[in-house]
Amino acid sequence: MSRLKGKVVAITGGGSGMGLASAKLFVKEAAKVAIIDYRDEKSLDKAVKQLVKAGAKKGQLFCHRADVGDERAVKAAFAAVKKALGPVDVLVNAAGIDTTSEVADMSTKLWDDMIRINLRGTFLCTREVLADMKKKKWGRIINFASQLAHKGAPEMAHYVASKSGVIGFTRSLAYEVAKDNITVNAICPGPIVTPLLMSIPRPWLNRKQKELPIGRFGEVEEVAPTVLMLALDPDGNYYIGATLNMNGGDVMV
Ligand SMILES: NC(=O)c1ccc[n+]([C@@H]2O[C@H](COP(=O)([O-])OP(=O)(O)OC[C@H]3O[C@@H](n4cnc5c(N)ncnc54)[C@H](O)[C@@H]3O)[C@@H](O)[C@H]2O)c1
Repeated sequence: MSRLKGKVVAITGGGSGMGLASAKLFVKEAAKVAIIDYRDEKSLDKAVKQLVKAGAKKGQLFCHRADVGDERAVKAAFAAVKKALGPVDVLVNAAGIDTTSEVADMSTKLWDDMIRINLRGTFLCTREVLADMKKKKWGRIINFASQLAHKGAPEMAHYVASKSGVIGFTRSLAYEVAKDNITVNAICPGPIVTPLLMSIPRPWLNRKQKELPIGRFGEVEEVAPTVLMLALDPDGNYYIGATLNMNGGDVMV
């Protein structure tokens, strides 16, 4: 199908996991897709190859290496995307990290890195696309939060704080821009098999798996269709400041 033909979709963290799985669906809908990620060139090449395999044509893809927590790098990245593909219509903020530590032992650096990438990065990237979306009177912003923002998690106070911040940011911005026909929503996945999840220590994962009513972790293909749905017109039009929860029953909201 070509339901996003003519639209430009920028996906931070699109080099892996749920960002990459979403990028594949956007490619299939004929959108032009920009990946913004700080992975090394070799990993990004691999991601691009997967998108080509998913059907991306010449001129449909753009890849830019940038750290979403770095204001100058973010401004340069979005200027490069605009030059290569045009103004962004859909922004997916999927770039994120996860680490573990109890608060009593947590270094200030561990805390700051988490907030800088997961929360500040979401703000910096979003700010870059708003002017063009307002001008067009159309836009879609889809932020990756987490189900843990609803229930908390031991050893992850910094991660949960960053993702709770993303939800608050999503709701407040949604108020500001709904009148411009820009929707802002958050995705709150449960544990999904990606390099990020698999970097969490095994005992934590074993504990979490036992807690899940569904008894297993999720797959990226079980999240990406919801990201696509939020970007589609009319499918996503009436979601404003929502948090969508595909989490295997970890939190029933
Ligand atoms: N996997 C899960 O269980 C899970 C659950 C809930 C929420 N999330 C969130 O979903 C989003 C996607 O995560 P994923 O699980 O697909 O992980 P992933 O590690 O597969 O993908 C994350 C991507 O973000 C990129 N990234 C990290 N820091 C960056 C930075 N500073 N600048 C630019 N790119 C950066 C990484 O290089 C990577 O390609 C994240 O925000 C994560 O917090 C993940």
